Amino acid sequence: MQTDTRLIKKENYNPKELNLHETLFCNANGYIGIRGTLEEGVPSDFPTMRGQYLAGAYEIIQMKQAESLCNLVEKKQTMLNICDTQTIHLSINGEDFLPSESGSVLDAERILDMERGFTERKTHWKSPSGRELMICIKRMTHFGVKELFTIEYELEALNFSGVAVFDSYHIAEVSNYSDPNDPRLADESPCYLKTKEKGFWEGTSYSLTEAKESGVKIAVVTDHIINSNSKSDSMVREEGGALITRIRVPIKKNEKVTLIKYSAFSDSIREKDPKAKARKVISEAMKRNIEELYCEQKNYLSSFFMKSQMEIDGDKELEDAVRFNMYQLLQAAPHDSYSGIAAKGLSGEGYEGHFFWDTEMYVVPFFLLTDPELAKNILSFRYATLSKAKENALLIGHKKGALYPWRTITGVECSGYFPSGTAAYHINGAIAYAVIQYYLTTADDIFLKEKGIEILIETARLWLDTGVYGRNGHFLIQEVTGPDEYTCMVNNNYYTNASAKHNLYYAARFYEQFKDAPEILALKKRIDISDSEIEDMKKAASEMYLPYDETYGINPQDDSFLDKPVWDLSATPKEDFPLLLHYHPLHLYRYQVCKQADTVLSHFLFPSLQSRETMEKSFRYYEKITTHDSSLSTCVFSMTASMLGLKKEALSYFGDSAKLDLMNRHENTKDGVHTANMGGCYMAIVNGFAGLRINEDGLSIDPYVPEGLNRYSFPFTYQGRDLKLTVEKKKIELELLNGDDLIFKYRGKNEEIGREKKWIQKL
Ligand code: BGC
Repeated sequence: MQTDTRLIKKENYNPKELNLHETLFCNANGYIGIRGTLEEGVPSDFPTMRGQYLAGAYEIIQMKQAESLCNLVEKKQTMLNICDTQTIHLSINGEDFLPSESGSVLDAERILDMERGFTERKTHWKSPSGRELMICIKRMTHFGVKELFTIEYELEALNFSGVAVFDSYHIAEVSNYSDPNDPRLADESPCYLKTKEKGFWEGTSYSLTEAKESGVKIAVVTDHIINSNSKSDSMVREEGGALITRIRVPIKKNEKVTLIKYSAFSDSIREKDPKAKARKVISEAMKRNIEELYCEQKNYLSSFFMKSQMEIDGDKELEDAVRFNMYQLLQAAPHDSYSGIAAKGLSGEGYEGHFFWDTEMYVVPFFLLTDPELAKNILSFRYATLSKAKENALLIGHKKGALYPWRTITGVECSGYFPSGTAAYHINGAIAYAVIQYYLTTADDIFLKEKGIEILIETARLWLDTGVYGRNGHFLIQEVTGPDEYTCMVNNNYYTNASAKHNLYYAARFYEQFKDAPEILALKKRIDISDSEIEDMKKAASEMYLPYDETYGINPQDDSFLDKPVWDLSATPKEDFPLLLHYHPLHLYRYQVCKQADTVLSHFLFPSLQSRETMEKSFRYYEKITTHDSSLSTCVFSMTASMLGLKKEALSYFGDSAKLDLMNRHENTKDGVHTANMGGCYMAIVNGFAGLRINEDGLSIDPYVPEGLNRYSFPFTYQGRDLKLTVEKKKIELELLNGDDLIFKYRGKNEEIGREKKWIQKL
């Protein structure tokens, strides 16, 4: 259930729901991510992923290939569970607070407060001997002080007086989560960390650990404040490797006692002396009242929602789900260029913390329109890893260009199974697409000149090096895998070719536009760009082969796709989905069956390449053979349906996407949220229902209100302006809140917002 800006769920301490709640009530701020696990722990047979993560912190592990073929990746990076500072045991006169295993829970709920930026767990519990306690635990990862995590643990004695003892843990060496039966998770989980230093220093616990292979160092410091009417005493000890701070405090009936635990984290990726940094963060935080930190958090969020708040009138649940998704995207967004956005953000270990194309294709569009600086951080990470992408290209055998890794943490390829990993060259297209959209949306030519054009040129070079001119003069791209991972290693995947065409065209276009700028002159020299190479890019773009089938009047997914038998989805038992967990990949590759939107996505991204009729026929064709086993799919079907005027379909696909994690639709939200889908859900409204597009001709809109809704509105930024679009059944209003006059297109016709600051269209 969700009310206003809060997600509220009853907590039954039921093992089936606990790990789902760990994801939904995770606290993260783009740097740290803390799963919503229970301070007191759970019985050993309860499934739990007890994790604390830092963006970009990783270990290197072996990924033994069954056959050692040339240049296959034999090592991969995996995210680190960095420590455990969330464990706090409470006992009252020797009786432990353990709601998931003893006594009785009289009432309990979990709250995610998105306006104030913290989670709460409230539990009314009766101990086996009849003591009644009210426990309220607030957790916050601070958006302003990004290294800081706080737990405010409040105990109220409802019917007794006694002595409360808090044992607060700092465990430096912890293990990662694993599930050998699920390819989307790590298959083993040793402890990757070794301790370099740990101990207490003036009551503060500290540890410095190092990942054994990567050498990444993690510093953790914790400290406590206790608020109570009676005098407390505290002592520290080390036990079983853990640093434990024990605080004893008498409590009287109807009184409250609050323990505030501060944890600070730092790492050697960002800091020369992470321990000093973590200590500094703690000592500064401890000087401040927790209320002041809450207040800052609230202010941060109010400015975030001011820039992004989506109002949906007519479906409260939907509006709440969309807000939850946006909040999760913010929790995942990096505040520097040391990391990208993992498929699960910082909310869990699914996909081992790897960054995929998900970020650029699905998440960047959200930040582009709400907080372009965050979008720039994400793209700057790709720039920072460009040299590794060039090494990756060399490894595969390319002579020139950059091939971004399919999955990575630092920029090196981490996918073991290359047919649905490294072969997915379309990741280059996604990164290029995001760079182009960044420039078209922000007009930030500094970024383009300093970083963007270099990314575009190096990715375009890769296409030139991969493709060949066929006998009929078309530029062909062979042996790649498109977005649909149930079809691998094919020739001329329509999506890949279309995005390569876009990449090649804009690499040449922007290079020529800025070729006299000092940054580009220097770049030309540094990476040796010649005019003939730029001409080659233009030629390959214009001669790019885009498969079309006369019989069906559609774009086949690739050269051989339509010759394969169609998988009978209606005869496939429900429990066989997702197919990837039940059928050998080779078997899947031999059928027309799609895991996710592929050609349909390219129609949405590059609509000018085909007639409306072809796109609609393609949509109908792929609709029948797509399982949506990937969470990246229904949102794309929704936005493409909107673009094609298929309103009923758009709404139905959107419904599947918006509540995917809240309703645990893919039954794996326990492993982390699906960030790409969350971004895709935003796109389904903004780019789909509202038809908002940004291209070389500028901004255009073509909105409608889907059945069942009355009205929706959202703010967005465009080239330095703040705007707000409101769409009603009988009226569209575009308001210019800030910035210069605007010329934009409505249904293809030029319109203007000038002095009146508002454009209104009656319907
Ligand atoms: C999808 C990919 C996606 C990955 C991570 C896979 O299931 O097929 O497109 O990048 O998940 O979200």
